Amino acid sequence: MRSASDLVRAAARELTNAGVASPRVDAEALLAHVLGRDVADLRRALLLGEKVAEADHTAYRLLVEQRAARVPLQHLTGSAHFRHLALRVGPGVFVPRPETEVLVDLALADLRSAREQPVVVDLCTGSGAIALALAEEWPTARVHAVELSEEAHAWAAANVDGTGLPVDLRLGDATTAFEDLLGGVDVVVSNPPYIPPGSVPIDPEVRDHDPQVALYGLGEDGLQVPLAVAARAAQLLVPAGVLLMEHADVQGEAMVTRLRATGAWSEVADHEDLTGLPRVTRAIRA
Ligand SMILES: C[S@@+](CC[C@H](N)C(=O)[O-])C[C@H]1O[C@@H](n2cnc3c(N)ncnc32)[C@H](O)[C@@H]1O
Repeated sequence: MRSASDLVRAAARELTNAGVASPRVDAEALLAHVLGRDVADLRRALLLGEKVAEADHTAYRLLVEQRAARVPLQHLTGSAHFRHLALRVGPGVFVPRPETEVLVDLALADLRSAREQPVVVDLCTGSGAIALALAEEWPTARVHAVELSEEAHAWAAANVDGTGLPVDLRLGDATTAFEDLLGGVDVVVSNPPYIPPGSVPIDPEVRDHDPQVALYGLGEDGLQVPLAVAARAAQLLVPAGVLLMEHADVQGEAMVTRLRATGAWSEVADHEDLTGLPRVTRAIRA
């Protein structure tokens, strides 16, 4: 038997050498996962010098090796935290990011001044993160979501089931989805694929494990898919309805300019994420 803190210290060293950005946090999360405990509980165990049974060493070793090979932490634990939710994720679905939480805050601000049972649509829902967060945090909203990839859709369906939240989840193309909701939606939210071709992400967790269809926005500047999704949003929204769309930090100006040029939008403005980078464009259906 070795102490939990020895195991975590050794794992954190290995993860540091592998270039993992948050080695100690990841080492703790993986041991907590192996032991079936939450991280706060594990940290208490570390302070109290608790020992870990030999049987758990092997399972931990295997996970640490995979993390050192830059398999995403969330694929190893099977779970990603987004807002107040723990979502199931794994191969075939985009791991929701903290920067996307800003989009949820902006949507909630708009829902405060919307009608009593606002209709919300999440175009390109992935794991269902944004749709489920809004269904949880604005319970009177009628939330719909669509995803193109069958694999990602299956993860979203598992999350709808797992959370029990009332989201109408569909499999399909966001650029043609929801014929039944045309002109009746109050808020469209979207975190579409937007990375320009050629801008291959540096982090192996993203480059090698997030699905390509979740990353690349196509066209010269990566805005082909986002603009097609925005065009569908314009058809779905009620007059004065709101579009909130995430983009890469370098796309803030281009997104605002390109949306204004369509003539479909008024009050087009860009918003920063919590690190101060341009992240979400908000536009009102003209
Ligand atoms: C960047 S991920 C975002 C996922 C989720 N909204 C989030 O924030 O975690 C983009 C998602 O859009 C999906 N997607 C790409 N093209 C699509 C399309 N034309 N229609 C619907 N979904 C699409 C991808 O499969 C992927 O799940």
